Amino acid sequence: TKGGYEHFMYKEINEQPGALRRTTQGRLNTHTGGVELDEFPPGTFADVEQIHLVAMGTSHHAGMYAASLLNARGIPAFAFMSGEYSVVKPPVTPNTLVIAVSQSGETADTLDAVRRARAAGAKTLAVTNVVGSSMTRECDDELLLRAGPEIGVAATKTFSSQVTALALLSERISEDITGVRSSDARNLMEALARLPGDVQEILDTSTAREIAIEYEESDAYFFIGRGPAHPVALEGALKFKEISYEHAEGFAASELKHGPLALVTPITPVFAIFTGHEDEATLSNMKEVQARGAPVIAVTSDRSSEVVEFADHVLSIPETHPEIAGILANVQLQLVAYHAANLLERPIDKPRNLAKCVTVE
Ligand code: M6R
Repeated sequence: TKGGYEHFMYKEINEQPGALRRTTQGRLNTHTGGVELDEFPPGTFADVEQIHLVAMGTSHHAGMYAASLLNARGIPAFAFMSGEYSVVKPPVTPNTLVIAVSQSGETADTLDAVRRARAAGAKTLAVTNVVGSSMTRECDDELLLRAGPEIGVAATKTFSSQVTALALLSERISEDITGVRSSDARNLMEALARLPGDVQEILDTSTAREIAIEYEESDAYFFIGRGPAHPVALEGALKFKEISYEHAEGFAASELKHGPLALVTPITPVFAIFTGHEDEATLSNMKEVQARGAPVIAVTSDRSSEVVEFADHVLSIPETHPEIAGILANVQLQLVAYHAANLLERPIDKPRNLAKCVTVE
């Protein structure tokens, strides 16, 4: 049931603290900075040479996010849309680990990518929310999200849990491959342990509804970010368009000047996401769009910086480890999308033309 909420999506957004607690439960050690995944004891991934993350939609954004965490640890990792994977045919070896990210575990394109990878000799691992799903049967191994059932077509709590589970997995993998724990692993584990509380703080204090009201009449909505904030920008735009039916696009902030800037006008609000990844450069991009008259909503944990001074509005997130700040920023963007769609009286839980699970290619 919707448990008193008007929509499943809003219920699931609000369930995130509990979901994240379950995703990390018993899987991290804040004293040692170690990852404790029963499924994957230390050494499991010692032979892995490269990683492919295959997924669609929101799960692909989680895959992109994880690729950036792995790359930051010196691990060759690449995120692919699973629908493109069997067309592009990136080379795999027996030491390639293919991680399939799928909430439902039933997405046809992702199942197809996994089958192709297995046939080519790769190892496969499913990161999914559904026990016993096809993905878990097709892959060699599985890591469950434990986020609880997600009914709304728009994926919300499962994205947060996917990135969280993938952050743990990335740390395990990099420790196995490099033989050393990352230097700030303990800070990361502490931040992951605080994550449910940080998300709760956003849910309790967010001004996302006011932003949605202020910009209800806009022409289009743009989202920009760098590093792990790039997939968050894509995810913010995907959520916005799928439930509000308004035009929304996400870009890497560095891409702006190479085309998208032509679309920026005083009636295209820009959400700029700051997660501590070359924030100075994103601040310049923010000023560039403001110079074209666009209002900027900065999503940031910084309360005193130039970003706050120049932004037209701020959606605040608690201070945390930069690698997981994107999860918090995304919660604010989920709320903006939800309130915007609600103001427009859209059928939030069942957007037109979309299904929860896409079982055809
Ligand atoms: O079940 P999956 O995670 O494999 O689904 C993949 C996409 O269809 C899904 O993430 C979709 O983009 C979201 N429901 C959008 O909110």
